[in-house]
Amino acid sequence: MFFLRDPKIDRRSFLVGSSALAASVAFPGGSRGAATPGRELALTAAPKQLPLVGDPYPDTGVWSYNTGVPGPEIRIRQGDRLRVVLDNQLPQATTIHWHGVRVPNAMDGVPFLTQKPIGPGETFAYEFECPDAGTYWYHPHHHSAEQVGRGLAGALIIEEAEPVPVDRDVVWVLGDWRLDRDASIVDDFGNHMDAMMAGRIGNTVTINGRIPETFHVRAGERLRLRLVNASPARIFGLEFRKHQPLIVALDGQPIEPHEPPKGQIVLGPAMRADIVLEMNGEPDSKARVLDTFYEGRAYRLIDLVYSGEPRLRERPLDPPSRMRANTMPEPDLANAERHSTVLQGGMMGGRGMMMGMNGGGMGGMGWSINGVAATGHDMAPMLTLSRGRSYVLAVRNDTAWYHPVHLHGHSFRVVARNGRPTRHREWLDTLLIPPREQADIAFVADNPGDWMFHCHILDHQDGGMMAVIRVA
Ligand code: C2O
Ligand code: CU
Repeated sequence: MFFLRDPKIDRRSFLVGSSALAASVAFPGGSRGAATPGRELALTAAPKQLPLVGDPYPDTGVWSYNTGVPGPEIRIRQGDRLRVVLDNQLPQATTIHWHGVRVPNAMDGVPFLTQKPIGPGETFAYEFECPDAGTYWYHPHHHSAEQVGRGLAGALIIEEAEPVPVDRDVVWVLGDWRLDRDASIVDDFGNHMDAMMAGRIGNTVTINGRIPETFHVRAGERLRLRLVNASPARIFGLEFRKHQPLIVALDGQPIEPHEPPKGQIVLGPAMRADIVLEMNGEPDSKARVLDTFYEGRAYRLIDLVYSGEPRLRERPLDPPSRMRANTMPEPDLANAERHSTVLQGGMMGGRGMMMGMNGGGMGGMGWSINGVAATGHDMAPMLTLSRGRSYVLAVRNDTAWYHPVHLHGHSFRVVARNGRPTRHREWLDTLLIPPREQADIAFVADNPGDWMFHCHILDHQDGGMMAVIRVA
């Protein structure tokens, strides 16, 4: 499976051999002697050669956590303490951000704002409690377009005391790479064309670090599939043909189980969806999983391949019920203070046309939030919120591009889209806002500190679409 986007690369093709999905990597757990039970783990960030594409192509030089791409799947129980000592063996400084986890500010991994970047050869210990169950992930926040683009990302699963009953709990970390014909990573990070349009979308999609071929299932089984979009820029729109996935959580937060609108699970960069999949096909049958997000660029992501084994059960399980909510305080909408935020910038022409680019080059065409283009993480706050108060933030996308907007340190409820109340009032930490649309998000500012609010298309973030929200 090879996905082509860039017309220049269109003519190339990889003949991909069969490559099994990488199993999730186990890591030695350990309890600390502390009062709160916990897990301790060492992560080493370092270059590594890995068979991303597979025979007959050479290995790809990636940047890995503990030699894996993605990094180890970290699993911990809700309420437990996680301690991770990062050893940086990369040629540049790094940090780790625990995306979606409501950590104390000092553990948030934002360079210069919450910590000093961890230099080559240095170590740093992250330690925090995991207050909310769900599907999260970790990635660098320093030079993240390049570092995530070279493979640094991993899943962090915080387990519920009472999960949805399933036969298998599987994580798919979706990766997106821009590879050359020799399977090496194209070294064009920071390219202005990407930055001012849809971001550095690649040409090779991976699941758990391999180009996927088949995913083996058994008739009658029920899966919980945790989808994590760990790509720097690609938006996915997954369709499970002949199946009816039920979304049971978004960005880690339980939601009333429901079928995705139009049967398409849309995940912008950094977003997660937990789905329950009833494998109701026949033994020895097959079904395709497609990614149909970009118009005219649909492709087959993977095949679900049923074994010949008899059905695991004759009678289907009861439909999943909603999981217990996490611990976020409920925003008080009646008394919430309202603020407006506008996302601006980028090329103004639709559909990737070069309109809007005039003779002066593109140096001046950045991205901004409320008129300010960030030049680094350590910036004056765009907003200062009072600790404990409820806020509604209206976020308007005044650009021709999609933006997955992420708030650190909090989850928020999406209360309205384009002025209309949302059906599920979902809790998210990353919200995909289509061009020219608007969303209202509500939350209690209960986590003190300086928190990033930025687009998770990492080139847009680098290009200035980033702000700081202070909770004091
Ligand atoms: Cu996943 Cu500010 O990042
Ligand atoms: Cu963006």
